[in-house]
Amino acid sequence: MTLLFVLFVCMQLFFSTEASKVNVTVYYSSHCWYSRMFISNQLLPTYEEMSDIMNVTLIPYGKAKVYIQDKAGNLEFECRFGNNECKAMLMQSCALNMYNMSTVLPFIACMEKSTAPQKESQSCAEKTNLDISTLKSCSTGKQGKQYLKQNGLKTNALQPNLDYVPWILFNGVYSRPMQLEAREDLKLLICKLYNETSGPKDDIVACQTTYEILNR
Ligand SMILES: *[C@@H]1O[C@H](CO)[C@@H](O)[C@H](O)[C@H]1NC(C)=O
Ligand SMILES: *[C@@H]1O[C@H](CO)[C@@H](O)[C@H](O)[C@H]1NC(C)=O
Ligand SMILES: *[C@@H]1O[C@H](CO)[C@@H](O)[C@H](O)[C@H]1NC(C)=O
Ligand SMILES: *[C@@H]1O[C@H](CO)[C@@H](O)[C@H](O)[C@H]1NC(C)=O
Repeated sequence: MTLLFVLFVCMQLFFSTEASKVNVTVYYSSHCWYSRMFISNQLLPTYEEMSDIMNVTLIPYGKAKVYIQDKAGNLEFECRFGNNECKAMLMQSCALNMYNMSTVLPFIACMEKSTAPQKESQSCAEKTNLDISTLKSCSTGKQGKQYLKQNGLKTNALQPNLDYVPWILFNGVYSRPMQLEAREDLKLLICKLYNETSGPKDDIVACQTTYEILNR
């Protein structure tokens, strides 16, 4: 009985520290310049430094559209930047469903560094040790289409509606000033949000200089 209680309290402590991570949900389009810059120049370096205080979710879709192609229910997508964008987003949707964020973000950021992300999937998978053959069969098949469709449902359910990309929610909330801050200095914004929800934590080395600057 006592042991169970102790276990219960321990688990609660465990989950409450977990829940204090800043949730960052990025709705993006693989071929949009702002999305590409944000993912490769802000999100990846910040995540590499601070993955212990941020919980990142990526949702590639943007302003794509999905159609039911035939009676068999096959899906067809139409992407803002054409079919190459659909290809890249199918690939990334598969990768996001197959790997955890610390594995998949370097792969996606590698693709996004290129003006033609769909061309780089193979070389980026090799660089980041992802299994390209599984990714290819997923992204050219039904599974990839289902994943991308799910992303579309999430994107279209946004309140307020997605107006541009990247469209970033912090702890589930959209705000225009936070978008601008995130594009300028994501690390600073994460440190501020983390401090607000969790209180300043001496153990977050990555935020120490940020806190010192802010408190000057
Ligand atoms: C991270 O985000 C995912 C997706 O929104 C959510 O299901 C999960 O509970 C979050 N984890 C933490 C620790 O906040
Ligand atoms: C993510 O996956 C990699 C490779 O499977 C693994 O080494 C790593 O520990 C995982 N990271 C987390 C945070 O689960
Ligand atoms: C992050 O998202 C998870 C799952 O929705 C939620 O339980 C948690 O409270 C969120 N964290 C913050 C700091 O809002
Ligand atoms: C951290 O949050 C506290 C309130 O919780 C606030 O007084 C303090 O100014 C914040 N510090 C920074 C550096 O944002």
